[in-house]
Amino acid sequence: MPAISATAPGKIILFGEHAVVYGRPAIAVPVHQVQARVMIQAEPRNPSGCIRILAQAVNLDVWLADLPREDPLVSAVRGTLTALGIEIAPACTIRISSSIPVAAGLGSGAAVSVATIRALSTFLGQAFTDEQVCSLAYEVEKIHHGTPSGIDNTVITYARPVYFVRGQPIEVFQVARPFTIVIGDTGIPSPTAQSVGDLRRRWQVDPTTYDTLFDAAGLIAQAARLAIERGTPEELGPLMDQNHALLQEMGVSSLELERLVAAARLAGAVGAKLSGGGQGGNMIALATPESADRITEGLMAAGAVRTIVTEVRN
Ligand code: PMV
Repeated sequence: MPAISATAPGKIILFGEHAVVYGRPAIAVPVHQVQARVMIQAEPRNPSGCIRILAQAVNLDVWLADLPREDPLVSAVRGTLTALGIEIAPACTIRISSSIPVAAGLGSGAAVSVATIRALSTFLGQAFTDEQVCSLAYEVEKIHHGTPSGIDNTVITYARPVYFVRGQPIEVFQVARPFTIVIGDTGIPSPTAQSVGDLRRRWQVDPTTYDTLFDAAGLIAQAARLAIERGTPEELGPLMDQNHALLQEMGVSSLELERLVAAARLAGAVGAKLSGGGQGGNMIALATPESADRITEGLMAAGAVRTIVTEVRN
């Protein structure tokens, strides 16, 4: 049997992170420059049910049965088998590789889940629809994040820009004019569950203040969608700045993020904001094809450990 493989891109949130957990809309786009790849090879010489997991980059070479039940990979594989009504899978090796930085707001966990679920369902002869992949990957996200909105697994499964409202069917939309984003990584690992949990505690103490901030972020996401659909992406700059100010007020920025956001603006970005969970991780800056290099240099000089220039298009 030939090996089966599947890939899934990274992602970045343009607008509405955190507020999206509380039901407000958000916009996320795939980042195709980085991706997770999963390859599955049948091992007919091994007894049925033996699944070997190989992820060389993180020195992982184990039998699935030896991983803890709450491991996200176990959940992705078991979820797939259960959905297909298969109790014992044919023996196989699942090889995982990924160029998506971990715990940096680029969706590395969700991308590995999506690629695993997609490759395994195909390997087992019953390739899932995007909808099935997305909903199984969401179950795995709950292990990573605690209370995920579902935006990561959605944008990564569909691999196109999405306007996302928690619990509602996915809305894809037209990017009338492509635009350029520079992503700057602080290099500070930022587990999303931590920043989401910290913010939830603050919200519980003072829901009125935080709900007002979430409402404002939701309105910005709506305005951003209109600008993208109208083909006036330059309007996204001020919207990014406003969204960043709200995220500061939510308490999810950090010194390093502030430094990179300021450096991007100084280098000519029309707008910049932190992206994702915050307290570390990534920020984004709105660029033009001409200003992208200068912004990249400014970010590296201000301490970014990595930058990615990506074009947002359909
Ligand atoms: O840190 P990231 O990019 O995986 O994004 C988390 C986005 C949040 O809105 C903070 C959480 C969520 O589940 O939507």
